[in-house]
Amino acid sequence: MILISQRLRLAPMQIQDIPEVRAIEIDVFPSPWPGNAYHRELTGNRSAHYQCLWREDQIAAYGGLWVVGEEAHVTTIGVRRSEQGRGVGRTMFCALVNRAYELGANFISLEVRPSNEVAIHLYDSFGFRILGRRRGYYTDNGEDALVMWSDLIHAPRFKAHFLHVAGSLEAEGLGPLPDPGWPGR
Ligand SMILES: CC(C)(COP(=O)(O)OP(=O)(O)OC[C@H]1O[C@@H](n2cnc3c(N)ncnc32)[C@H](O)[C@@H]1OP(=O)(O)O)[C@@H](O)C(=O)NCCC(=O)NCCS
Repeated sequence: MILISQRLRLAPMQIQDIPEVRAIEIDVFPSPWPGNAYHRELTGNRSAHYQCLWREDQIAAYGGLWVVGEEAHVTTIGVRRSEQGRGVGRTMFCALVNRAYELGANFISLEVRPSNEVAIHLYDSFGFRILGRRRGYYTDNGEDALVMWSDLIHAPRFKAHFLHVAGSLEAEGLGPLPDPGWPGR
């Protein structure tokens, strides 16, 4: 039985969330962002859109996008270690894709380490494809980055799959989903 209090709830990231986000990030990322990066993103970057996924009074995951013109770029997604492997990342990623629809984007891009099989599998399952490789992108170990790309998020196949996944989620605060028809909202 799933208790109501166990449900996940999405909310925009707030300044007061940053210490908890940072603690998750330092734990799960090999190369966390510098200490002031989230503050800068939330207060000084109008293209930036960050969200937290809460389970009761604890942040289970967080993620963000930059949206410039018709392109949304996933800047980060992180799931608390104790929450990994139970669908939280899928829920968070779904929220980011939905935000991209809401903000009028047509495409979504992101970078991922070739060694990060779980993340690649997650993005692949949403219909993202590998478009290219940035040599030596990650400064901690010199690993390349794979560039993954959604293609048109209003394409019927991409959107139908997104709506199917989004409709199956048990999370509050996802917001209105895109219209299934063309060209979207
Ligand atoms: C990558 C990450 C966001 C995925 O979130 P998660 O909550 O662990 O993943 P989910 O439980 O939502 O599972 C997503 C998919 O990966 C699969 N998966 C999850 N953990 C897995 C594991 N350890 N091994 C293999 N597959 C796994 C799931 O089965 C699911 O696939 P499915 O939809 O085909 O069933 C999360 O693990 C994380 O924060 N990792 C550290 C930070 C990071 O790497 N961020 C991404 C940077 S690009």
